[in-house]
Parts: sequence; C-alpha cells; structure tokens
Amino acid sequence: MIEQEKIEEIKRQTDIVELIGHYVPLKKVGKNYRGLCPFHNEENPSFYVNPEKGIFFCFGCKKGGNAISFLMEYEKLDFPEAVKKLAKNLGIEIDTSKGLRYKELYEVNEFAAQFFSSCLNKELGRRGQNYLKERRVDFTRLRDFRLGYAPASGGLRTFMRQKGISTELLIKAGLLTPHNEIFRDRVIFPIFNLSGRIIGFGGRSLEENVQPKYLNSPETPIFKKGDVLYGLFQAKTSIRSREEAILVEGYFDLLSLYQRGVTNICAPLGTSLTDRQAMLLSRFARKVNILFDGDISGIKAALRAIGLLIDAQVEVYIASLPEDTDPDRYIIENGIDQLNGLIKNGDDFFQFYKKHTRVETVEQEVALIKDLLKIISHIRDPIRFDRYLKHISKVFGLPLEVIKKELDRKEEPRSSTQIKISKEEKMMAMILNNREYFHHTKKVLKPEDFQESGVRRIYERLLKNEKFNIYDLTDMIDGNLREKLFSIIMTQESLPESNFVKVLNRYKNGLVEQKLKMEIRQALKNADDEKVKKYQKKLRELKLHSL
Ligand code: CTP
Ligand code: MN
Repeated sequence: MIEQEKIEEIKRQTDIVELIGHYVPLKKVGKNYRGLCPFHNEENPSFYVNPEKGIFFCFGCKKGGNAISFLMEYEKLDFPEAVKKLAKNLGIEIDTSKGLRYKELYEVNEFAAQFFSSCLNKELGRRGQNYLKERRVDFTRLRDFRLGYAPASGGLRTFMRQKGISTELLIKAGLLTPHNEIFRDRVIFPIFNLSGRIIGFGGRSLEENVQPKYLNSPETPIFKKGDVLYGLFQAKTSIRSREEAILVEGYFDLLSLYQRGVTNICAPLGTSLTDRQAMLLSRFARKVNILFDGDISGIKAALRAIGLLIDAQVEVYIASLPEDTDPDRYIIENGIDQLNGLIKNGDDFFQFYKKHTRVETVEQEVALIKDLLKIISHIRDPIRFDRYLKHISKVFGLPLEVIKKELDRKEEPRSSTQIKISKEEKMMAMILNNREYFHHTKKVLKPEDFQESGVRRIYERLLKNEKFNIYDLTDMIDGNLREKLFSIIMTQESLPESNFVKVLNRYKNGLVEQKLKMEIRQALKNADDEKVKKYQKKLRELKLHSL
C-alpha cells in the first residue's frame, strides 16, 4: 500500500482545478469553478470544483470527491493507479509495486489469458482452431486480442495451482464456481480495460445447441459490464485519430472488420449500450457509426443507442444491413468494400427514425415527432440543434413556434432537486469544513449529541482519527448523507476560529436547552414544582449566557 502521508502530500500539492480543467472546461464563479458535468448529461453547468478544499461536486448527479476520486471515476482507475497518476504529474516518486488493490485479480486474469491462448495453439485446442477457421477468423492477424480456447476437459485450475494461485482467488476473479471451471469448450475473448489489463472474458460455445451461446465472466470488482466496451483498448488510437468510431453488437462482427483493416471499432458486451459506455466512447470519438444486426432487435437496439449517444454529444449515423444478416456475415458474403460503402452511406438518426418507426396513424406520427424532439432537445451544439429543429419543422410541416413551445413544455422544474438539511447535518458539515478547529469540538460535543446515526458515526470516526477523509468514505455513511455534506461543504465559507467556536457553543446550548425543556415538561406532568423551578432557573441562566 502507498503510505497515507504520501497520499496526503499528493492531495495537498495537486491543483484540482488544473487537473479537472484538463478534462472539463471550467469557469470561475465566486470561489468555485463551474462546468458541465462529465458524469451525467446536462445542458446547464452544475458541476463545481472548489480549489481551496480540493473537492468537486455535481449538484445534478450528486457525484463528488477529491482529485483522486475524480481520476478513478473519469479514467476508470483504481485507487492506487489514480494516486500514481497524480504523483507522476507532480514528479513525486512512489512505489506502488505492492500496492495495487486489485493487482491479484489482474494477475489471475493475465495468467488465465495465457492459459487459454496456449491451449488454442496446441493440439488440445484443435476444436477451437477449427471453429475459428470456420468462422473465417484469422487469429494470427488478431494478436492484440489474444484469443484463446478453454478446453472441454478444463485444466485452468491445475494450471493456476502450479502458479500458486488459490481456488478462492479464482472464484473472486470469476473464473471458477466452487464446483466448476466456468469456461469449457469455448472460444475465449479476453476483455481489456483501457490500460490494457485483462478484466474478464467472453466465451462462445462451439455447438449451436450448447447454451448460452455466449458466456461472460460474472461481474467482479474489476469487471463491470456496463462500463466497458469490447475492443476499445485495441481501437482507441485509431478511433482518436479519425475522431470516428464504428459500433457493432458482436465479438465476431468486431474481429471480422478488424482483421480486414477497419480498426476504429468497438462493441458493448452483450447488453444494450449503457449511458456509461456512450460517455466512454464520446471521449474518443466525435462521430459514431452504429452498425448493428439487420433484424428487429438490432433496429430496436440502435434506436435506444441513438438517444444515449446524442446525450453524450456525439454525431450519430446508422448503417442498415439487410434484415437477416449481421456485419460478419455480410462481409463474408459481400466483401469488406461493400460494407464500408454501407457505413459511408449511413442514415443520420433522423432519417433512421423515420425509416424504422411505423407511421400509419396520426397518433403514431405525434409519437414519432415527440421522440425526435426529445432526442434533439439534448443536443448542446447550438448550430446542430438549430439545424435539426428546422429540419423537423420542414419534414413534418410544423411551424417552428409550435416546436419551440413543445420543447419549452418539456423543461423540468428544477425545484425537485432541493435538499432538506437537518440541524445535525449542518453542524457536521461545519465541523468537517473547519477541521483545524476540531480541538474545540472535542471539548464540547459528545457522540450522543448527534441523534442521527450517520452523523454520529462520522463523529465517532473523527474522534478516533481526526484526519480521516469523508471523500473516500462511501461504505460508512449512505450516499444521501454524503451528498448533502458535500453540497454544504462546497458552498460554505470556512469560518474564522472565534466564529466557529461561537457556532459550536450555540449548537451545544441549543441541545441543552432542548433537554431542559423536556425535563420541565416532564416535571410539570408530575406536578413536581421544585423540579420545575430548578430547571426553569437553569434555562434562564443558559439563555442569559448565550446572549
Ligand atoms: N451475446 C451475449 N450473450 C448471448 C448472446 C449474445 O453476450 N447469449 C452478445 C455477444 O457479445 C454477441 C452479441 O451479443 O457477440 C451479439 O449477439 P448475436 O448477434 O446473437 O451474436 P453473434 O455475434 O451474431 O453470434 P454468432 O455470430 O456467433 O452466432
Ligand atoms: Mn449477430
């Protein structure tokens, strides 16, 4: 592990505005910086960075954290990787060789890929070789993908035992159930993260009657299906240089194009495209060509993907294949040049929507127009936005004013994001925000002074370790409380010491007052005049003091 002190030093030295500004254009507003949130889609900036405290917070999607959590989230790094990257920026040297939290998972996957790949190249892998040959996959031209074969007879476990890897770890890595090796008699597609580490596998059965046809590793701490695009690691340079990507559905579609020289290509992992995947792709591509299967489910998937990609602010085109085929089959039957032609002549989303949404009744037409408007309303580029509005107006013969009215109607009331904040939460935010004065707090407040369990837990933690960081702490308090604390800390000024002490005492007095009032009520109920007087006197004194 990296020493805590080093981490603190790195955090202290990192200029969070410069760091985040590198990815997100930021403008200064007051003491904060503001920009469009990179973690969700928005038209009005609600993403704030506070240089003084070294934190960021989005009032829209409620994501928040420090420089390290920003990098983890944005670059999909694990904690040590993010720290390492920051250290590198600062020219600080750290030894992370022992430190990677998920190092052992990456290692196991790497060994597994070596095992599967060596099997494919042996006599043992003849079935795999034949299958790939039948599918016209030339795996020698696809070295970067490190295809493999999992033998029907297994063997991964024994291989791993020789490497000294425990069964437990293999289970954690998603390669083993307590009873079985997960992949058997399948062609194996290793799945890479953006830094080229293997995080999981996909496997294709060799027989049509073996179900499921495709099997993916279960989700593990390093493998989240909805966050990865297959092939993106291999394709990213090519995508970036062309600013353009092709999105296909299947492993074989991807490999088929790639081995024929079309390398700016990636695929979601068997699920429909997620907003995270769309966002991820938009970091590399300005324009995306959807090339899904020609069947109904391919068209439906494309219609869904369009919205997400537009949300991620990429230009979308859709190539349509004949109904009964997919890109791989199409290439085999018609050649890569014809497929490239189809891609080049792809529809823009507008044309595609019109083509594939059946409009026979007026109501269907209304629904279509509304769908299209909804998509268009998410386009941030003012010129493209305007062009599409005019286009929709022309195509459907709708006056622009009508369209604008409909769009205005859609704007959601922003009040729903108002958050209720309790006194205790406010106090805790204050304490966290003025941590240097914690020695005052310790003298005045006890854990019991907080009724709310989350707040109390934080306080107890503070008493144990004053320096602990709420930004790294997600398991201890619920997300809701964390968000609230963040949003307060983000907007709150740090108080001068004497003011802080005043606020603190006022809070404490408020608690005592409440308690006395309760005692008085109780004494009144018991008709205990003496006690009533005693507490009333105390209450008067307290009020006098706090004046
Ligand atoms: N897929 C999956 N699980 C399934 C079926 C499909 O994860 N049971 C994923 C795979 O990534 C697959 C993609 O969805 O590549 C597209 O599905 P499909 O069109 O059915 O697969 P093809 O790649 O066309 O399969 P093949 O050509 O091998 O029959
Ligand atoms: Mn297919």
